[in-house]
Amino acid sequence: MKRRSLVVGEALVCLALLSNGVNAQSESNAPHLRKQGAATQLIVDGKPFLALAGELGNNSATSLEYMKPVWPKLQEEKLNTVLAGVSWAQIEPQEGKFDFAIVDGIIQAARRSNLHLGLIWFASWKNGLSSYPPDWVKRDYEKYPRIQIEGGRSIELLSTFSAANRDADAAAFTALMRHVREVDSRQHTVVIVQVENEVGVLHDSRDRSPVANKAFDGPVPKELMDYLVKHKDTLNPEFRAVWQAHGFKTSGAWEEVFGPGKPEGFEMPVRSLSPPLSKEAHDNTEWRKLTWPADEFLMAWQYARYVNHVAAAGKAEYDIPMYVNAWLQQPDHAWPGTFPSGGPLPEVMDIWKAGAPAIDMLSPDLYLQYFDEVCTRYVKEGNPLFIPETRAGAAGAANALIAFGEYDAIGFSPFGIDRFAGNNPELASIYDLLAQLSPLILEHQGNGSMTAVQVNQDDSPKDVRLGGYSMHVALASERFLPPSERHSPGLGAALLISTGPDEFYVAGSNVSMTFTPNTPGPPLAGLATVEEGRFVDGRWTPGRLLAGDDTGQGEDIQLRPNGILRVTLYRYR
Ligand code: DGJ
Repeated sequence: MKRRSLVVGEALVCLALLSNGVNAQSESNAPHLRKQGAATQLIVDGKPFLALAGELGNNSATSLEYMKPVWPKLQEEKLNTVLAGVSWAQIEPQEGKFDFAIVDGIIQAARRSNLHLGLIWFASWKNGLSSYPPDWVKRDYEKYPRIQIEGGRSIELLSTFSAANRDADAAAFTALMRHVREVDSRQHTVVIVQVENEVGVLHDSRDRSPVANKAFDGPVPKELMDYLVKHKDTLNPEFRAVWQAHGFKTSGAWEEVFGPGKPEGFEMPVRSLSPPLSKEAHDNTEWRKLTWPADEFLMAWQYARYVNHVAAAGKAEYDIPMYVNAWLQQPDHAWPGTFPSGGPLPEVMDIWKAGAPAIDMLSPDLYLQYFDEVCTRYVKEGNPLFIPETRAGAAGAANALIAFGEYDAIGFSPFGIDRFAGNNPELASIYDLLAQLSPLILEHQGNGSMTAVQVNQDDSPKDVRLGGYSMHVALASERFLPPSERHSPGLGAALLISTGPDEFYVAGSNVSMTFTPNTPGPPLAGLATVEEGRFVDGRWTPGRLLAGDDTGQGEDIQLRPNGILRVTLYRYR
């Protein structure tokens, strides 16, 4: 009997050890980033993961009731991840008293819908301003100060210069991440976190409170100068040009090192977000130049330090990937202050890297038509691409192919998904296609064997090179297709993966493509096998075998809407 109870006791201890072991193991297996060649991938449950995401409206996830009818629509839209806001005011209604009931409900509902979650920490700032801090923060303006703009006017935007603001935010974020660890460190429903939202000063190019003015007149911090000196040759070109124009000084006040800020008395368009640009300046690229860089750079440093403090505090509780998102400079928001000044834009990426090492990614909210250009600027120096906000529709579907196929993106996420989910066939179809291709895409990210291309009706055909061939990619003629098979006229996109010598998978819509060898040997390429098909559980399942009309009598391939082709080639002369 005695022996028996000992055995039971031993077994219980073993079980306890085992379950601790499992806990520790799954926790150390928390979502994280891992390099694969030139790419960085999001690893979930030990495997790379492509986030086929959508972002909810800002406040949708503050009500479980509101979300009830939304979840099935997200599944219909073929998402595997949803980005949901967490309101600071909602989780900390009284100082130090936390209520995670809604967060828990959202996590559970996401699990039931087979979705992962990205949480958006709507805290000190959302689109520059401060609408999400709790009441007790907003009311106590002496303790939690606002910034001041030209004329000494305070606006509803918490100051980056206040340790009280920063510490209150960090304490709440710490509690949130501790809670997420407690409820999710084994299941990994939450895979990524956005810290704040589109930070930066609006309505002026910088904070002009006395404490901010003192910092502006004081020296550029040594930590930042040291970083810039160390990375001088690889800095963002626009940033470097500004520093160079002022003699690459390695110390001095912000205006001495980076040139003048906004002149005193200059009228900023406070109500309208559009600076008064001339038509020419608007239409050409003049709007892209850096106006009042010293102001923007000071604010970038301030936000980076503050956000880093918050993110590091959260990561100390639960270390999963974290990013910050940017409202980009654009023709109608060209001056700092008409876009949030100091946010993580490409021109201040180096300042963010120096100031916010706890942040894993700087992410563009990409509504601009210059999709490729923005992606190119954001993937500089190994910054992984995660697009938390963008458009859906046919253009969004084409962009999704480009993001994953050309820029090795981790995630793509049209904004306002709850408004249009269930009613956006282009997004559902492209996510279905990308879900089929995910294992192959993930295998090929970062090793130069994948690319993607987009053509619209104003473009000439484009040439891309991959796997020893040049592909000439044109908008497909839809003349011969029945109306039901016509895609979005005027827009085509394809993702190409080289899977072996003379073998490619080509996926997308509405393009035609010819192949020419670009390595020594016979100069012409012929289509050996062209199969259409699907990937089922990662395995290629061929459908029709194509020749004749479907391959231009052997001269090109044509992608039907959201089609996948397996193509093998031979060479001849
Ligand atoms: C950008 C913001 O980051 C989002 O939260 C949302 O407000 C959209 N703009 C609205 O278009």
